[in-house]
Amino acid sequence: MAEACADPSIQRYNRVLDRLGHPAPPPSITDAEAVIDEFTSSWRAFATTRTPSGVAFAITDARSGDLVGCCDVDDWSQADVAQFGYWIAAGARGPGYATRAVILLTRWLFELGAARVFLKIVAENEHSVAVARRAGFVYEGTMRAHGVWQGRRCDVMWFAALPLEWTMRGPDEQT
Ligand SMILES: CC(C)(COP(=O)(O)OP(=O)(O)OC[C@H]1O[C@@H](n2cnc3c(N)ncnc32)[C@H](O)[C@@H]1OP(=O)(O)O)[C@@H](O)C(=O)NCCC(=O)NCCS
Repeated sequence: MAEACADPSIQRYNRVLDRLGHPAPPPSITDAEAVIDEFTSSWRAFATTRTPSGVAFAITDARSGDLVGCCDVDDWSQADVAQFGYWIAAGARGPGYATRAVILLTRWLFELGAARVFLKIVAENEHSVAVARRAGFVYEGTMRAHGVWQGRRCDVMWFAALPLEWTMRGPDEQT
C-alpha cells in the first residue's frame, strides 16, 4: 500500500488534499499500517452495525493472489446511500481489475440493502470515468469547481447505480 500510494495519480485522486489541493506526503509503512488498523476496526464495527462505513477490500488477482489495489467504502449514510473509492497499483492498470472490483463491491452493497451507490470522479480522470461507465454506473451530472488540485479548481462528475435499474446484478457478468 505504501509503495502503490506514492504513484502520482493515486496521490491526486485518492489522497486527502489540503484546501489548496496539495496531498499529504505518500504514506510510510507505519502510516499504511495505521490505515489498515482503521479498516480492521471498521470491519469489527460492521459486524455489529451491519453498515460498512470505512471498510475496505484488497483487490487481488484471482489466479496468483497478488495484491493489485484496494477499494473502500467512504460512507454509508442514514438514508442507506453508499459511496466508495478505489485505486489500482500503477503496474496493474488496464486489464480490468478496477471494473471487476467496482461491480463486485456494488453487488455486495446492494445485497446489504443500499438504496443508492455513488462515485465522485474528478472530470479529468478519464480512466476512472471509463471504469464507472463499464461497471454500469449512470452519469448524473458535473459539480463545477467542486474540487481543487495544486491551486486550480476542477470539476467533479457524479455517477450512481440504483438497485432496480443496475444492469450488472446477475452472477454471470464478467469484465
Ligand atoms: C482509475 C483506475 C482505478 C483504473 O484501473 P484499471 O484496473 O486500470 O481499470 P480497468 O482496467 O477496469 O479499465 C478502465 C479503463 O481505463 C483504461 N486504463 C486504465 N489505466 C490505464 C492506463 N494507465 N493507460 C491506459 N489506459 C488505461 C483501461 O484500458 C480501460 O479503458 P477502456 O474502457 O478503453 O478499455 C486506475 O487507473 C487508478 O488506480 N488510477 C489512480 C487512482 C484513481 O484514479 N482512483 C479512482 C478515483 S475516483
